[in-house]
Amino acid sequence: MVVTKRLILMVCAALMCGVFVAACGDDDGGGGGGGGGGGSSSSSESGATEGAKTIDPAAMDSAKGEVTYCQGKDTSGNAHYMIDEFNKKFGPDLKAKLVEFPASADEQRNQFIQRQQAKSGDCDVFSADVIWTAEFASQKWLYDLSPYMEDKKEDFIEAPIETVTYDGKIWGSPESSDAGLLYYRTDKVEEVPATWQEVYKEAASKGGIVYQGAPYEGLTCDFLELFFAAGGTVLSEDGTKATISEGDAFVKTVSFMADGIKSGAAPKAVTTYMEPESLAAFQTGKYAFMRNWPYAYALNQKAKRVKGKFEAAPQPEFEGGGKAGILGGHNSVVSVYSKNPGAALKIVDFIGSPEIQKAYAAQFSLSPVRAEVYDDPEVQKALPFATELRQAITQAKARPVSPVYPQISQAIYKNVNAALAGQQSPEDAAKKAQSAIEKALSTF
Ligand code: GLC
Repeated sequence: MVVTKRLILMVCAALMCGVFVAACGDDDGGGGGGGGGGGSSSSSESGATEGAKTIDPAAMDSAKGEVTYCQGKDTSGNAHYMIDEFNKKFGPDLKAKLVEFPASADEQRNQFIQRQQAKSGDCDVFSADVIWTAEFASQKWLYDLSPYMEDKKEDFIEAPIETVTYDGKIWGSPESSDAGLLYYRTDKVEEVPATWQEVYKEAASKGGIVYQGAPYEGLTCDFLELFFAAGGTVLSEDGTKATISEGDAFVKTVSFMADGIKSGAAPKAVTTYMEPESLAAFQTGKYAFMRNWPYAYALNQKAKRVKGKFEAAPQPEFEGGGKAGILGGHNSVVSVYSKNPGAALKIVDFIGSPEIQKAYAAQFSLSPVRAEVYDDPEVQKALPFATELRQAITQAKARPVSPVYPQISQAIYKNVNAALAGQQSPEDAAKKAQSAIEKALSTF
């Protein structure tokens, strides 16, 4: 991949914006040159995404035919709901179909990449994890949606918009946001503990804690939440150096997590858990705590053994450090190989609409990407922690923004997982993660 110095600077700017969301206030950098009639390509002349196809927003007005929407396993049922509503509203001239990929974020990425490498139009629209924008856009796999987003972006919370902005252009439309929550059993735990250390202490005597510890993206999230709270950083501020093993935050965090497994506060099986397995474990009724995303809230309410006996709270502090959350979520992106970009944009538009955003929150407990939805009385009723959730999303830290993010994440989750499974010491994990990230950075 040919990458110019300018790109590096841009990655760094994006990284800093992502990390210091609040400080990036009123940035209008998203669409660069603005209005100029349907996306004339000139606004930001940089190397990384130059020549990308740009969407024509007008194509949506006369959209007809079929459109396929691809996403990870629809564990919540929201995608089926959305597709049905779309077909009711726009059919029979327009018809949407759902293709489900596996539950693992890494697998979803692989599935999409395979299709894009084959230049296949299988997925007109893909529900892309917030961390993939830089990579997908620099591979020229996505339509630049800036002309469409230009007058829409104000409708969305800024943090999700940042995740879909890269190289001065907007590559999709926010679909759902995400922040890790601490679920706890109200019949086992009197009060939400103030620190992770207390969570683990209580967990040890009250049934345990489950989380996502398998070697995949989910573990990177779970680890970074603690690691950032403990004061660690993954890259230097300019994005050019790996800093993950600097100071003692890495060893401290991994030791804390590994001790949790050794002491029995977390079951050894967490080293194989992704979101669905940790949710299933919590729903057996045995565990006192679970770290998971908001989608688990609605599903827990339907689960016999925990229904009415749990709550969800923002994450606690790391003792001696602070609080930190990771910004998750998904953006609807349009494949450049779509044979029906007009219909693709139509479904993207539908997913971001107030009506779908409200249904996603009220029925499926997904975090809305529009601020006002959190204040809707139905949403407040369905999600008693809606106000805290909006705050968590607004303040969450972005994962490092980089075209080589997947390699950076792999360096983290593989080494952390091996340490949790007792296959290497936290010190060795720190050294190996550091050198694997250095290697990833040197390839671009
Ligand atoms: C959730 C988040 C996503 C994250 C993934 C990890 O789907 O929304 O951002 O990467 O979990 O498993």
